[in-house]
Amino acid sequence: MNSILKEDLENIFNNIANERIKFKGSNIFITGCCGFLGYYFLHFFNKYKKDLGINTIVAVDNFQVGRPYWLDELIKDGNIEVQEFDIIDGDLQKINRDKSNSFVIHMASIASPVFYRKYPIKTIEANIWGLKRLLDDYKDSTLRGFLFFSSSEVYGDPAPENIPTPETYRGNVNTIGPRACYDESKRFGETICYEYAKEYNLPIVLARPFNNYGPGMKLNDKRVPADFAKAVINNQDIVILSDGKPTRTFCYVADAITGYLKILLYGKFDVFNIGIEKPEISILELANIYAQKGKKLFNYTGNVIYKKSEENHYLTDNPNRRCPIIERAMSKLNYNPRIYVEEGVERFLKYISEEGVK
Ligand SMILES: NC(=O)c1ccc[n+]([C@@H]2O[C@H](COP(=O)([O-])OP(=O)(O)OC[C@H]3O[C@@H](n4cnc5c(N)ncnc54)[C@H](O)[C@@H]3O)[C@@H](O)[C@H]2O)c1
Repeated sequence: MNSILKEDLENIFNNIANERIKFKGSNIFITGCCGFLGYYFLHFFNKYKKDLGINTIVAVDNFQVGRPYWLDELIKDGNIEVQEFDIIDGDLQKINRDKSNSFVIHMASIASPVFYRKYPIKTIEANIWGLKRLLDDYKDSTLRGFLFFSSSEVYGDPAPENIPTPETYRGNVNTIGPRACYDESKRFGETICYEYAKEYNLPIVLARPFNNYGPGMKLNDKRVPADFAKAVINNQDIVILSDGKPTRTFCYVADAITGYLKILLYGKFDVFNIGIEKPEISILELANIYAQKGKKLFNYTGNVIYKKSEENHYLTDNPNRRCPIIERAMSKLNYNPRIYVEEGVERFLKYISEEGVK
């Protein structure tokens, strides 16, 4: 196994030491398992299924953006059953799984703006009807936890006084722009979860991820951290498709996954920002970090340059600043992200160079 991934999985396992007993005797069902975050979840559960005392793990994906190269190797171990399945209209009854004592992770939904703009209706359907079908399927079972992947995009483009952003902020979202299919379906998805949790007394918990990045991100994913990593690995110029000024805090995937597992095990309705509070850096600063780390690790010789995206709507409704307040997750979940962006970028690049570009 890739040494960076192995170390990350061990850290995640250690960081949920107080909660992991809750997995004992459970059955896990995951949707959207073959994307970026799914890569970590599947590798984590595959490695620790036995230690955690998990009975069964069934995971589905419709391979909308391709079947990942790592999947066959992973399922060889026989710990996880992965099926091609579309959460929008697939027949859930046909998926052979034990629904008792379940933990359900609903991730199915393209996260990359370039791709969700290409499939807007499917994005809406996965986040709304896919979610509702899944909740209907589980509402009468013994559910131990249901994690819905919402997004920090539910906040839209907050006014300056609402940044850094707490969970209580209600958002500034365009209902009819090119990002609305994603932002608004995550918002309505949250409402569906809220009502089901009340009506059926279900332990549904919402995660609002803030800019996760790292190993497992496909290099052709078209999210900024993937674009920059791809450029460095191929020793090409890093291309910025904006003026480089929008700012973000970037949360390394292993920190984020620790947070998501803690949410999954939390056991009652709530909503949590999962990200990191600092440093808030511009896209230009991020590009420079990639370039410096590339120089240090592989004598990277490219430059940071600016271009206009070929996609007309690349920048429409793109938030200027994105920065979370994570106090709630820190106090209620003991979530404590510790990998700052310089270290995370270095880990990501080392991971890719060890893995090879696939
Ligand atoms: N990574 C982040 O920083 C981030 C930020 C905000 C929200 N999220 C949310 O977290 C979840 C996972 O994010 P990710 O980065 O792994 O996304 P991703 O795009 O890398 O992976 C999503 C996966 O879902 C699958 N999928 C899409 N529609 C489906 C359907 N109808 N049926 C079955 N599978 C389907 C895709 O094939 C893909 O493998 C998503 O719901 C995303 O919206 C992630």
